[in-house]
Amino acid sequence: MSPASKIFIAGHRGMVGSAIVRKLLAMGHAPASLLTRTHAELDLCNQAAVQAFFAEHRPEQVYLAAAKVGGIHANNTYPSDFNYQNLMMQANVVEAAFRNGVKKLLILGSSCIYPRLAPQPVAESALLTGTLEPTNEPYAIAKIAGIKLCESYNRQYGASHGIDYRSVMPTNLYGPGDNYHPENSHVIPALIRRFHAAKASNAPQVTIWGTGTPKREFLYVDDMAEASVFVMNLPQAVYAQHTTPMQSHINVGCGQDVSIAELAQAVGQTVGYSGKIDFDATKPDGAPRKLMDSSRINALGWTAKVQLQQGLAQAYQDFLKIHA
Ligand SMILES: NC(=O)c1ccc[n+]([C@@H]2O[C@H](COP(=O)([O-])OP(=O)(O)OC[C@H]3O[C@@H](n4cnc5c(N)ncnc54)[C@H](OP(=O)(O)O)[C@@H]3O)[C@@H](O)[C@H]2O)c1
Repeated sequence: MSPASKIFIAGHRGMVGSAIVRKLLAMGHAPASLLTRTHAELDLCNQAAVQAFFAEHRPEQVYLAAAKVGGIHANNTYPSDFNYQNLMMQANVVEAAFRNGVKKLLILGSSCIYPRLAPQPVAESALLTGTLEPTNEPYAIAKIAGIKLCESYNRQYGASHGIDYRSVMPTNLYGPGDNYHPENSHVIPALIRRFHAAKASNAPQVTIWGTGTPKREFLYVDDMAEASVFVMNLPQAVYAQHTTPMQSHINVGCGQDVSIAELAQAVGQTVGYSGKIDFDATKPDGAPRKLMDSSRINALGWTAKVQLQQGLAQAYQDFLKIHA
């Protein structure tokens, strides 16, 4: 892959897509070689438009970081949007890529593809071994279809057309470009927003839902972008050694989890909040632990670099640019 090779980053304005763009530019790819389209310019659910885009631009590589993404409330309220739009985006992009000679493509999935009660840490082999979390099942089913789409094209056309389509399953991500919406954000951006507001108003305490004991894993988004580029560019023989044709997805995590109490402490410190942190144990905790088994990507030669405290500091700087 030369610095001038055309690469399409679908979803380049999202948190992950923008980090992939940053990574590719940092690696020396020419800005003009990176193809990007906003949702308004190219609706990836529109099959004809996607086909026309690929026929005109014929990228060499494709990162699919566009998706209909949301929290529990949005997933529960709009299940058909989450299922249909994610299925369509993936199907349209993979098929148009194949028809227009794209040899290398990477789909971003999610840890929600795994069964609700999968043994921890969750290995790639847990896929399709049990019942999914009902609140985001339609989304998870679409993401599983994305993995199987890549595998099916590889199995049918890999040898004859030299295609190699891959997928990565990130753990919880945070960092620049995160969503800080009051009702619809993930735990780290929600804590940053709350501690920032508490500091500004000199609030004596911040109360966090649950006991604070559940443990979760968090990966800084620039590490995710680095892992995506790493997996995309792994030589085929190396990738094949660590995967099988019908279990080809790769978990991406940092390998360590923290309790919500530890996380709250770390965010409070980052923001400079000096009040008390309380826990409301009458509120639900969710699963006691959610950690990905990232030994496959570690064995391939990639490990996360950004420590939580450093990542939180960078995330908070990004928050301040928008919310100061
Ligand atoms: N964030 C996490 O913690 C996390 C964790 C695990 C996995 N992931 C996965 O990583 C991927 C990217 O997530 P993210 O956090 O970067 O999401 P994001 O910030 O919401 O970005 C998603 C992007 O997709 C675009 N998009 C949505 N529908 C589109 C359509 N029909 N046509 C064209 N573009 C469309 C959005 O554009 P508009 O905003 O203009 O609609 C947006 O730029 C997703 O597959 C997600 O499942 C994320």
